[in-house]
Amino acid sequence: MLKKLQGEWIITLKIKKMYLKLWLSILMVCGMAESIGSGKDWHISVPSKIPVLQGSCVVIPCKYVYPKKAKTLMTWRGYWKRGNTVVATNFPNVKLTDEFNHRSRIKGFLESGNCTWQLNHVRKTDTGPFYFKIEIPQYKSFTFSNNKVTLDIYRVPEPPIMSVAVLNELTATCKVTHACPSSPPKLFWSHTGMIETKSKKKNELLWTTMSTITFTPQEADFNKPLNCTVRFHGRKTTHSSVLLIK
Ligand SMILES: *[C@@H]1O[C@H](CO)[C@@H](O)[C@H](O)[C@H]1NC(C)=O
Ligand SMILES: *[C@@H]1O[C@H](CO)[C@@H](O)[C@H](O)[C@H]1NC(C)=O
Repeated sequence: MLKKLQGEWIITLKIKKMYLKLWLSILMVCGMAESIGSGKDWHISVPSKIPVLQGSCVVIPCKYVYPKKAKTLMTWRGYWKRGNTVVATNFPNVKLTDEFNHRSRIKGFLESGNCTWQLNHVRKTDTGPFYFKIEIPQYKSFTFSNNKVTLDIYRVPEPPIMSVAVLNELTATCKVTHACPSSPPKLFWSHTGMIETKSKKKNELLWTTMSTITFTPQEADFNKPLNCTVRFHGRKTTHSSVLLIK
């Protein structure tokens, strides 16, 4: 009687083990498919690729969540890394290499899950891949090595998009897209008039800066180009023009 019971017990255990194995492999497959890091409840949300103009700046949006509410009064430490090199940190004791010193800063408030990173004067060697690591004192550290960010650096800016409408007055708009909200591009017109320039967020990554000029066209303004010149942070320029025909 007792033996039989023991036998049953052992079988149950074996089945349980099989289930556990199966369950574990399902978990692993899910983890890989979602590529959310190997930890259970550590998630990060970063773009995988960002187009950036060489010489300009880029703000890499980043949000993360961690498994439990951590209670600590000590400063959390965040690191953006490329391989083993730290490229940005809020921890003052870590010296950045000359390559990244003075042009790289974690802008987000780490304690609220914001790991946003800004890189200025982007060089053609800044492609990455970059990843984020968080150290929560008296709790845990986590490296989000499965969610890397690469920068797609281009050298020649796209010309701005222009449009013109003429009623009694002429209204022209000129619009560019960029990734550097802290120093948006400057837009210049080849004509004088009432000029209004605005920047706004286009999506998680990109911003648009748009300038509108309004003036009353004179005879002399026709059969001449109206130009919009854009100067990006880092001084690269591009322009578009429209010919005003009567
Ligand atoms: C994260 O921080 C950056 C820089 O301070 C800020 O612009 C952005 O809005 C923040 N993102 C969120 C989701 O709070
Ligand atoms: C406007 O642009 C054209 C070429 O697109 C150029 O030839 C012309 O000199 C420019 N005019 C001004 C006033 O900038």
